[in-house]
Amino acid sequence: MRVSLTRACRFYTSPITPKPSFFSPRAILNQPFSSSSSSSSHSSTPKPKTPLFLKPPKYSATLSDLKKWHNWAKALASSVRSTFADSDNGPDSSILFRELNWLVEDSLEDPSLIPQLGFQNNSQSVRLRIGLDELYGLWKQRIEKRKPFQYLVGCEHWRDLVLSVEEGVFIPRPETELMVDLVSDVLVRDNDGLRDGFWVDLGTGSGAIAIGIARVLGSKGSIIAVDLNPLAAAVAAFNAQRI
Ligand SMILES: C[S@@+](CC[C@H](N)C(=O)[O-])C[C@H]1O[C@@H](n2cnc3c(N)ncnc32)[C@H](O)[C@@H]1O
Repeated sequence: MRVSLTRACRFYTSPITPKPSFFSPRAILNQPFSSSSSSSSHSSTPKPKTPLFLKPPKYSATLSDLKKWHNWAKALASSVRSTFADSDNGPDSSILFRELNWLVEDSLEDPSLIPQLGFQNNSQSVRLRIGLDELYGLWKQRIEKRKPFQYLVGCEHWRDLVLSVEEGVFIPRPETELMVDLVSDVLVRDNDGLRDGFWVDLGTGSGAIAIGIARVLGSKGSIIAVDLNPLAAAVAAFNAQRI
């Protein structure tokens, strides 16, 4: 299975080859195959951000300092109650508590230490993927600026995938997961020969649908993913290479 990421209007492809089960281990072509009226230069290709859970754990904090932050973050989440939900169907406190747990999980090198956050005055040092100052800043952005949680942690869980996303790139929606099931049903029920065909995902965003369909098509299929937005094309390529 090969997934190609094409940035529309620039007309170049960065085909990505799947890792063992879906992608061959090496990336092939990464060069323009055609030019258009707009100039095509790879030098301006944006570099996707690394999602929090993949960042190296180069920070540290004591469990008690982490606990202090956690208590502050919980209090902030608690103060929201149903205000956002009532005004624009936003997250209520219970959803924010769940997100806070995910943020802690993604931030800690060893999430098995989470239960120890309950202990007071624990001077044990833990390794973090993000500094405490940044954690305060991120949670403020979540509550005060209503920044989408996926942009805080740089990823979204979609089907069985964890896809990188960042501001400027569409967060794949749960309902879109059905697209992959629809393709799977069509292949099984109607025409298994479509596996050998050439598939195209127009406006791929994070690459969710293309990658999901690539996994359904298996080793013989080919799918090209296209996006007008260079950042989306770069993030989709990053996801296709990583997954
Ligand atoms: C609403 S998002 C959907 C992303 C993805 N399909 C998903 O469901 O998660 C639409 C995407 O289409 C891209 N797009 C819009 N117009 C386009 C065009 N004319 N050519 C290529 N991509 C386009 C946008 O940049 C954006 O990433």
